[in-house]
Amino acid sequence: MSTNRTFTMIKPDGVQNGHIGAILNHITQAGFTIIAMKYTRLTTERAGEFYAVHSARPFYNDLVKYMSSGPIVAVILEKENAVEDFRNVIGATDPTKAEKGTIRNLYAKSIEANAVHGSDSDENAAIEGNFFFSMLERF
Ligand code: CMP
Repeated sequence: MSTNRTFTMIKPDGVQNGHIGAILNHITQAGFTIIAMKYTRLTTERAGEFYAVHSARPFYNDLVKYMSSGPIVAVILEKENAVEDFRNVIGATDPTKAEKGTIRNLYAKSIEANAVHGSDSDENAAIEGNFFFSMLERF
């Protein structure tokens, strides 16, 4: 069953480059409602856990190091068809392939420092939201 929710993170480059406000504005202008939001920082252990699904990939160690290199913003979003619509709003993982006007096209620097994360399924959206937020922190 679709929950109409997705999960996003503004990654260390998005925060470091001063894009939090612009990215959140882009997201809300695209029709998403913020259900929960947290400015925080991942330890290497927590980043490794979050990206455990990629642990066999060659970029895993660098990704974990990068994702724990600075503060991030974790956000649960709501909208009809949230997961798919949000992936269209952020654009391709590789910013050089992201469509014009998408968040990664506008704000990302590289495939690793790609400004934002977006869940790839309803199931992972729930898992990732639960990773950062308790029931009491959500609407
Ligand atoms: P994200 O959607 O957060 O999920 C996994 C992340 O791994 C991805 O965004 C990228 O930032 C990062 N990554 C780094 N190198 C690669 C790569 N070669 N292919 C795919 N993802 C990569």
